[in-house]
Amino acid sequence: MTLPAALATATTLARLVRSAPIAGWRAWHAEGIDQTWEPGRIVSSQRFALQSATRKYNLCFGGNRTGKTEWLRALCVAYALGSDHPAIVLWGHLNQIDLTQIPRGPGEVWCVAPDFATSVKVHRRQIDRLLGPGDKDWWGMDAESEARVRIKVPGYESEAVIVFKANKQGREAFQASSLRAVFLDEEGSEAVFEECEQRVGDQAGRLFLAMSPLKGLTWVHRRFVETIDPEAFTYHLVRWDNPFYPHAEKLRDKQRAERDPGWADARIRGLFVVQKGRIYTTFSRSTHVVPAYPIPPTWPRHRGIDFGTSPGNPHVCTWAAERPDGQIVVYRHYRREEQTIKYHAEQMLKLQEPSEVIVSTWCDPEDPGKILSLRRDHPIGGDVRKGDNRIDDGIDEVKQALLPMADGQPGIVFFYLPELAPLFVEFDGYQWAEGREKPREGQNDHGLDTIRYIVRGIRRRRRGIAVG
Ligand SMILES: Nc1ncnc2c1ncn2[C@@H]1O[C@H](COP(=O)(O)OP(=O)(O)OP(=O)(O)O)[C@@H](O)[C@H]1O
Ligand SMILES: [Mg+2]
Repeated sequence: MTLPAALATATTLARLVRSAPIAGWRAWHAEGIDQTWEPGRIVSSQRFALQSATRKYNLCFGGNRTGKTEWLRALCVAYALGSDHPAIVLWGHLNQIDLTQIPRGPGEVWCVAPDFATSVKVHRRQIDRLLGPGDKDWWGMDAESEARVRIKVPGYESEAVIVFKANKQGREAFQASSLRAVFLDEEGSEAVFEECEQRVGDQAGRLFLAMSPLKGLTWVHRRFVETIDPEAFTYHLVRWDNPFYPHAEKLRDKQRAERDPGWADARIRGLFVVQKGRIYTTFSRSTHVVPAYPIPPTWPRHRGIDFGTSPGNPHVCTWAAERPDGQIVVYRHYRREEQTIKYHAEQMLKLQEPSEVIVSTWCDPEDPGKILSLRRDHPIGGDVRKGDNRIDDGIDEVKQALLPMADGQPGIVFFYLPELAPLFVEFDGYQWAEGREKPREGQNDHGLDTIRYIVRGIRRRRRGIAVG
């Protein structure tokens, strides 16, 4: 991308940055593999998040202090001023942004904070600073109520307008405007988000949401993480990669992350996990989910089965192998609603290699009829028996398996395969009921049940205790 000749001398550039500092704002960027904090991880880039935010929905997830709000404010100013504003031309050049993605000329946008105090604290002064000392008119900059700034843009009669709103205002306050973009900082209510969708509808505009997922598996998770929406761009900024975050703090974070991977998932990586009463706090995708590889034929293989007994309850089968050092490797997952036990037996066999030998299959003990059927009428090979369904003990054993073994490797890992994704969602979201005596009723835990049967089965087998 080359700069127009009119901008290309050093003095003009310096003057431009002084008059509108957005012109000189740069996103942080690095490429490659992390060598320091989580060796082997692909590093995140704020610039990539900026360049790729060209869909209808643009979601920048991230841990705390990663630079999400910086990302949001820069885009907010660019969309308000328009892609042909000289300051935005330079900004686009420095950050290698395809400016054809941003409308030309000034327009109106909204910048939405959770509440007005936050709007005052993290949006207004900072955006004012990016806009610079030029010709602009503020209304309510420091007031804990709605505020707006109108900015004169060279060559245009109309002005750029940024309105500062708060999610706390509720849906009604988000009606009756036509906008080119809305910028939402931190997760608010779905009702406000839906209203914002209406506001950008006329202009085929865009929505931008920057957030740390700290509220559990909410509507954002349902709409943009559980389902893949081709109109949405989602990205995770990771705190380790923010060069503006102090090194000494990163060292402290690293110690805590080692003790508490669930904390690191939420606060450092910005992953969705439930917070309150989460059962498997030590399950972390970055620790326990690994690339798939061929399982050597000598490793003992097992299955865990949960029978889907009513509509809406899937029949689930999970396959796991025992690595010679004792690590349990979960390598295949089958999940299907309705259908007969005969059908499931056929499908499970179809998924296996013809030469695959399964030693043990531990099944949901609540349905002895189906276990009998898998032994006698629709045999699936190996020793098929009741799993141990003592929930507390089973959960404890899965928790132990998630911890590092003597060599530092986790006691259980899961292959990174699309079919296993629903199981990871179950791990993230599984919660205790009030009082923490048992898991909350009505959760999706069919996959987790199969893991309980397998872990308990393998561990008891190793201790020489028969199960079933
Ligand atoms: N591109 C950048 N240029 C300069 N400073 C940056 C940049 N990106 C991030 N920072 C700095 O990193 C820190 C965190 O940034 P920011 O407030 O945007 O993060 P956040 O993810 O929104 O944090 P929080 O979770 O507290 O909302 C701030 O001090 C910010 O100024
Ligand atoms: Mg922020």
